[in-house]
Amino acid sequence: MVGKGQSIHGQWGSRWAFILAATGSAVGLGNIWRFPYVVGDHGGAAFVLVYLACIAVIGVPVMMAEILIGRRGRQSPINTMRTLPAEAGATPAWQLLGWMGVLAGFIVLSFYSVVAGWALAYVPFTASGMFTGADTATVEAAFTGLLDSPGQLLLWHTVFIALTGYVVSRGVRSGIEKAVRVLMPLLFLLLLLMVGYGMGAGAFAEAVAFLFTPDFSALTGESVLIAMGQAFFTLSLGLGAIMAYGSYLSSRSSIPRNAGIIAGADTVIALIAGLAIFPIVFAAGLDPQEGAGLVFVALSYGFGQMPMGMLFGTLFFVLLSFAAWTSAISITEPATAYLVESRGWRRPRATFAVAGTAWFVGIGSILSFNYWSDMQILGMNFMGVMEYLSTSVMLPLGGMLMALFAGWVLPRSATVQELGFKNQGWYMAWLFLVRYVVPVAILIVFARALGLF
Ligand code: PFF
Repeated sequence: MVGKGQSIHGQWGSRWAFILAATGSAVGLGNIWRFPYVVGDHGGAAFVLVYLACIAVIGVPVMMAEILIGRRGRQSPINTMRTLPAEAGATPAWQLLGWMGVLAGFIVLSFYSVVAGWALAYVPFTASGMFTGADTATVEAAFTGLLDSPGQLLLWHTVFIALTGYVVSRGVRSGIEKAVRVLMPLLFLLLLLMVGYGMGAGAFAEAVAFLFTPDFSALTGESVLIAMGQAFFTLSLGLGAIMAYGSYLSSRSSIPRNAGIIAGADTVIALIAGLAIFPIVFAAGLDPQEGAGLVFVALSYGFGQMPMGMLFGTLFFVLLSFAAWTSAISITEPATAYLVESRGWRRPRATFAVAGTAWFVGIGSILSFNYWSDMQILGMNFMGVMEYLSTSVMLPLGGMLMALFAGWVLPRSATVQELGFKNQGWYMAWLFLVRYVVPVAILIVFARALGLF
């Protein structure tokens, strides 16, 4: 029945439901928290260009591959990566790809939930008027104060994981669609408002120059790896989240069009977030290399200075929490679907096991800001290691293997049918990308980051 029929977990109500859910997965902390902070850390425009190239040349073809593998298999990523290779007469070792994705999912979810907890914590912070008229020192102290307090971090991390588990336990369909349809456009509007504020009151020209006038001498092998990892992270690729969502997609919906819409929306939101944040950073004299706290510090300072900032700021952090929520749901889905399929567990039990494990691992990230702050591995704290290992290593590796699998292992008849290109040339271009360009590009970036040449 592979390639026809439906997943036992159900199917999206419409093509738009899939697009909304996948966009909900893609748009999240990666766009608004991580994109600006890694751009700041790695010097701006040259990094942005590499990131955009990675989205177009690697991200979009891999997204098409990931969706089509999911839809062809119609099962959780682990079982899909068992069934499809068996049917194609390929080695069962491919199932390791499914397992690596699930492992990466646990790691990503564990720190994602901690950062989403910061967004939740900033709702009462902003609503209490704590940032109104505050200077940069006060705003920075609020952030470090939060990180210094394991109790607060644990509370918000727990609330966030529980909210995520709640939706996943009820089945991904009900809930996500409604949330995304209303909240995403609202988040977008609020970001635009911040861009407008930055144009008037911030150092807008400086921000535009920083984001769009490249200085390639600032680019190292390491920053290219981070840019590529960010492309995977922001598009939710390489761990099976989009594969799981693809397995609930109707056979009639066009995969290339869907992938284009999702990647386009995600990229626009990241760039707008950059344009919202950097004018404030430069105007307030904040350091763009501030790191993981950049967005929280810069935006709360900006909201503190603008008229009605308390209201807009509160709303912003509520919406950011929602954006993180719809992403976290997608990270939880692959492992949950696997437990339901293979262990016969009911969804609530499966979700509890998955979310509970990620919650536990997340405690390490919480402690890395206070009790364990002296513990450094390769110059990173525990959360830094989790973030680096998953985002810059496991996701690109997973994406590369998915591209190879779709390009070399799946029969051509299958990929032709799933992608449904009217124009043969487009199909050949995709095939060339996933067979050669994507794997070679990823290997080169890995090799450069390791200093091999
Ligand atoms: N794409 C999400 C974001 O940008 O916040 C994060 C994410 C979701 C990463 C799902 C990986 C994933 F599978």
